[in-house]
Parts: sequence; structure tokens; C-alpha cells
Amino acid sequence: MKSKYSLNKETAAELFNKNSPAYVISNEDLRLVMNTVKPNGKDVLTVAGSGDQPLFFQLAGAKIIDTFDISINSKRMMNVKVAAIKSLNYDDYYDVMKSIAGGSADFPVKKTYLSSYYMPLKSEYMALKEKVNKPYNFIQSDLYSLYKNLNKKYDIFYFSNIIQYDFEAKKIIGLLNNLRPFMNNNALIVLYVAPYFIMEEIEGFRKIQSYVKKWAGVNFVRNSSQMTCVVKSL
Ligand SMILES: C[S@@+](CC[C@H](N)C(=O)[O-])C[C@H]1O[C@@H](n2cnc3c(N)ncnc32)[C@H](O)[C@@H]1O
Repeated sequence: MKSKYSLNKETAAELFNKNSPAYVISNEDLRLVMNTVKPNGKDVLTVAGSGDQPLFFQLAGAKIIDTFDISINSKRMMNVKVAAIKSLNYDDYYDVMKSIAGGSADFPVKKTYLSSYYMPLKSEYMALKEKVNKPYNFIQSDLYSLYKNLNKKYDIFYFSNIIQYDFEAKKIIGLLNNLRPFMNNNALIVLYVAPYFIMEEIEGFRKIQSYVKKWAGVNFVRNSSQMTCVVKSL
């Protein structure tokens, strides 16, 4: 059964495709995610998204950070952020993000998603200046074909809430199976992070839980506004 919040295939493809607009600032509670998965010293494969996803993993001490996204504009957004962090002070960084959100950059962005709530704090920004050195490796791929482009193992996989947009239990079970060869011992997959009321409506998730229980556990962690679903290999 699908959640009333999930989109059909066509609408999902309109929203997210090879050239879909990049988010300027993430609307995911990445601090909740970092507190949950504790990436210090870990090898991470994360959606590139707005670029904030790899940056927050860097801030939290991840060792290797590789990225993927269906949209090339996510790579552009991420590279702009890496370059900006190296050269700008916090106030100028904020202004640049504001101006990109206003549409002055030469690639499309989702104008609605500029939220200062999810911006790095000034102290986080200063730490990032020390930690960020070069652009992150980027794989342009759909989530469900991603395994075909992988050649190493990871400790953490971060998938935002991509599954929500075309939720099908069979598809997600297939995704998890295809990723197994690329999971280190005790690897974690963050399958979902967003407001919790959405995920709770998805009955199909129970099917996934019962299917993967032979080799993985499924847990939910929530704070006041968002919830994350973490699959942990056993
Ligand atoms: C899922 S969106 C973020 C969603 C946001 N938190 C929300 O609630 O709408 C994060 C990133 O996932 C990418 N994305 C969406 N569907 C994808 C797919 N099937 N495969 C790979 N990346 C995808 C988007 O391009 C975007 O950069």
C-alpha cells in the first residue's frame, strides 16, 4: 500500500531527473542524522542533494565521502559550496546562497528551499573551512541503479527520502539486496529522513522489515520534527 504522500512514477520523474533543479539548502534534519549514525571515521556514500549532505558528514568526521544524485545540478550546487567555503567568510557565503536561491546562478535551483534553519552555523562553517579540501567524488545515477556504479564498500549509505517518491516495497527490498555486497560489517543505510507522519503511513514498510530481518534490523529515530529510518546490517 502506498502512502497518500507518495507520488506516482510520472510526477516523481518530473520532480527529479537528470537535469532537475538543485536544492539550495537541504530541508532534511542533518543534525538528527549525524547524531543517529555517528559517522566519525566512517566511509560514507551519500546523496549529493544540495551539497549540505556531504558537508554535514564531513563536519561529523567521516573519513571517505562519496556522493551520487540523479541530477547533475546537485553536483554543481555541491561544487559551488565547496569552492565558496574555501574562499568566503560566513556572511558572504550566506549572501551567495541567497542570491543563488533568487535565481541569479546559471543553473536551475528550487527557489523554495532556502532555509536558514538548515544552514551550517557560523562555528560549523569555520570548522568546514578547515576540513573541506576538494570536490567530492560524484556518481550521476538513479538510486535503484546505483549498485552498478559501485566498486568499494561503505559503512554508511545516506538516501534522504528518495524512496518516498515512488514507494514500492519490492523495489526497496531489491535495492537493499543489490547493496549488500557493498556494505561493510555493521553498515547502516539511512533509507528515509523527513517529517515522521509521512513514513508512518506507509504500510509497505512492514513488508521490508519482515523481509530483511534475516540479515538486517530496521529502526526509527525521531526528534520533534523529523524522523529517520535506519537499516542496520547484522
Ligand atoms: C529526495 S531530494 C530531497 C527531498 C526533500 N528532503 C523533500 O522532502 O522533498 C534529495 C536529492 O535526491 C535526489 N533524487 C531524487 N530522486 C532520486 C533518485 N531516484 N535517484 C537518485 N537521486 C534522486 C534529488 O535530485 C535531490 O538532489
